[in-house]
Amino acid sequence: MKKRKLIIGGNWKMYKTPSEAIHVAKALKVKLINVANVDVVICPPFPALVPVNEILKESNIKIGGQNLYWQDEGAFTGEVSAKMLLDAGCQYVVIGHSERRHVFGEKNNEINQKVKKALENGLIPMFCVGETLEERQNGLTEKVVEEQIREGLSGIEIKDASDLVVAYEPVWAIGTGETATPDQAEEVHRYIRELLSGLFSLSLGNQIRIQYGGSVKPSNAAELMSRENIDGALVGGASLDADSFTEIIKLSASV
Ligand code: PGA
Repeated sequence: MKKRKLIIGGNWKMYKTPSEAIHVAKALKVKLINVANVDVVICPPFPALVPVNEILKESNIKIGGQNLYWQDEGAFTGEVSAKMLLDAGCQYVVIGHSERRHVFGEKNNEINQKVKKALENGLIPMFCVGETLEERQNGLTEKVVEEQIREGLSGIEIKDASDLVVAYEPVWAIGTGETATPDQAEEVHRYIRELLSGLFSLSLGNQIRIQYGGSVKPSNAAELMSRENIDGALVGGASLDADSFTEIIKLSASV
């Protein structure tokens, strides 16, 4: 029996038009109707949030944004606020995804403002951290992850942190087909939990859920989920298809 309820997110990235997203959401609603022991969150692109929410609002599947900006409103062309996400039906938001960090140059201090804004507004951040291949090869995994956690969560109070979800996503495993082995993932998850315990409290460190992300698929989900400190997954490619995402969720639920 897992200590913490599993949370499995589907990050659709820049895939699916609203009509394609509606199609998959309808299928997931039916396929996942009996799944109660896993929190399921899908994160479609912004234009699909409202129609997908219409379909899923009376289901056990929640929706989340893939990013937000820390201002409430204003002349910030191309950005989206926490309130907009909430009003569109989101309960979650992905923050600091490696593509935001590496393709769009987001820094830890910006990610920190985003995490704070999400928590202030009652949105649950799925706060992503993870090292590049070069960093891993140079033995810097713990250093990089520690910096991302300390700076990304700086100034966050214990009372707000209980809602937080952390996603460990080694950059070299994202979209590459290469997955961290369950041992490699568990080692970093345990380290992250120790950091969270030190930053907040032992009980909070034990409570915060840590997802693994990076080429999670039906063939590796259950083994990853069987590890003590792996409390779910953030799934990219394999969440785009209703059948494979359902399979990942059901296999994980059975662990
Ligand atoms: P992937 O993406 O499952 O396609 O590797 C994971 C992610 O980016 O969250």
